[in-house]
Amino acid sequence: MKTDTADQHWNDQWAGIEAGSKWLTPEADVKSWAAAFAPGSRILDLGAGVGRHALWLAAQGFAVTALDAAPEGLAEIDKAGGVDTILARMDKLPFEDHSFDHVLGWNVIYHGDEDILLRTIAEIRRVLKPGGSYLGTMLSKRRLPHERATYPGREISRNAWVFDAPGTDKVHPHYFCSAEELLALFSGFECARLQDREHEKPGSWHWHLTLEKL
Ligand SMILES: C[S@@+](CC[C@H](N)C(=O)[O-])C[C@H]1O[C@@H](n2cnc3c(N)ncnc32)[C@H](O)[C@@H]1O
Repeated sequence: MKTDTADQHWNDQWAGIEAGSKWLTPEADVKSWAAAFAPGSRILDLGAGVGRHALWLAAQGFAVTALDAAPEGLAEIDKAGGVDTILARMDKLPFEDHSFDHVLGWNVIYHGDEDILLRTIAEIRRVLKPGGSYLGTMLSKRRLPHERATYPGREISRNAWVFDAPGTDKVHPHYFCSAEELLALFSGFECARLQDREHEKPGSWHWHLTLEKL
């Protein structure tokens, strides 16, 4: 069964993106992550959406590639310009080994089951230079009781859940993990920072992680 299907939902969202959407404003964590980067650093925005981070990073003078499986998001990035866009899937990156100084995966790589996630992490590890950094988010297990109290749901394989929440991306598989599980998934990385943070909605816990490739 194919579990990395959430890009279909996001493609529809990006086709109807409206001015003022939260998906157009870069996250403070991304800005502070990039503050110490060397000029001209090569950055991959993995699952770039409509490019709020890719475009901001390019405006800082970095060489940015935005990759997504949703063509409607990439079309928005192309309209703005200044960023290379690539239509591809996160678990099969069309880049040489050690192509990037830094990789960003904000609210992206948990879209699928553990096989997809492990393949994606292996690809991130492969395309990053040694000493390069990864900033990303993951869904925290602390979030599961809130989801389960709101929508009927089921675990389709270890830590991968779908919920009966029509019109949301929760109908597509999402992966939830504890800190211990997260660190085991990211073997070959040193953890520089890990925090469980509640996003806009109560109970919307996400791990924020900054890792360095060994
Ligand atoms: C929640 S959005 C986040 C977008 C962007 N990172 C941001 O923070 O604005 C998730 C993005 O991941 C992309 N995505 C989901 N699964 C993917 C996959 N298997 N391969 C590539 N992109 C994927 C979606 O198309 C969508 O653009």
